Amino acid sequence: MTLPPPAPTAPTAKFLADRTALVTGAGGGFGREIALGLARAGASVMLHGRRADALEAVRRDILAEGGAAQVAVFDLADEAAAGKVLQALGRIDVLVNNAGLRNRRSMDLLDREAVRTMLEINLVAPFDLARQLAPGMAAGGRIVNVTSIAGQIARSGDAAYTMSKGGLDAMTRALAAELGPRGITVNAVAPGYFATEANAAMVADPAVAEHLVRRTSLGRWGRPEEIVGPVLFLASDAASYVTGQVIGVDGGYLAHF
Ligand SMILES: NC(=O)c1ccc[n+]([C@@H]2O[C@H](COP(=O)([O-])OP(=O)(O)OC[C@H]3O[C@@H](n4cnc5c(N)ncnc54)[C@H](OP(=O)(O)O)[C@@H]3O)[C@@H](O)[C@H]2O)c1
Repeated sequence: MTLPPPAPTAPTAKFLADRTALVTGAGGGFGREIALGLARAGASVMLHGRRADALEAVRRDILAEGGAAQVAVFDLADEAAAGKVLQALGRIDVLVNNAGLRNRRSMDLLDREAVRTMLEINLVAPFDLARQLAPGMAAGGRIVNVTSIAGQIARSGDAAYTMSKGGLDAMTRALAAELGPRGITVNAVAPGYFATEANAAMVADPAVAEHLVRRTSLGRWGRPEEIVGPVLFLASDAASYVTGQVIGVDGGYLAHF
């Protein structure tokens, strides 16, 4: 008999007290879970996204638990707006580049514009946020990128996303090398198949469930809250000597043959 896995526990120690964190794409999915996790660990969290109402709802949830949060609305495609908001935010100690665009298309349906847009949101914007925020980070600053197993393996019909996540993996290493001498670490988490809102159609597809049972060591979808622990670890002092790493959070997908 297979027992259901235990629900991950929320952090009780305030190991991120005195830290401010910016989470992009915090209005739902992983971003919401990561923002709640950081707030529970004591960080003051800036919630980024385009949908002010969704961000306000997350902010209310954090305040209801006694945490601290602010909302930062801008489109990652709008460099000028991003710059203005970032300046107003003040010091950020932990940047979580979580926001991402998904647009599965075979290569014959991908024109330059579609590829550019994907790279702009999934790769150039995270770089730009890091570029703007790193100068204000003290030693101990943290950048955590949310990439994907698609950064390391590929399948047909998803070239633009795969290229963007492979680039984000490489950016993680490049910025780790550049910011390491200042005591700032740069790492990434690479989620596999998670039952997030964005994947609702796939979650309902029995063929995908069958694939996951066969293909992952743990034999199931990831639960959205299971991304939080690895991000909190990388954001914490416990990961002080970890940098340039892409950590798979995939139920064993990348390791399983
Ligand atoms: N779910 C999975 O199984 C899975 C697997 C591997 C990797 N990932 C990665 O995990 C991250 C989060 O995914 P998710 O499943 O939580 O998806 P999601 O619910 O679709 O979240 C994506 C977030 O990105 C934000 N975003 C997209 N385009 C933006 C733009 N131009 N400007 C500002 N914000 C923008 C959205 O904000 P608004 O809604 O406010 O516009 C949204 O909050 C992504 O980077 C994704 O590639 C997810």
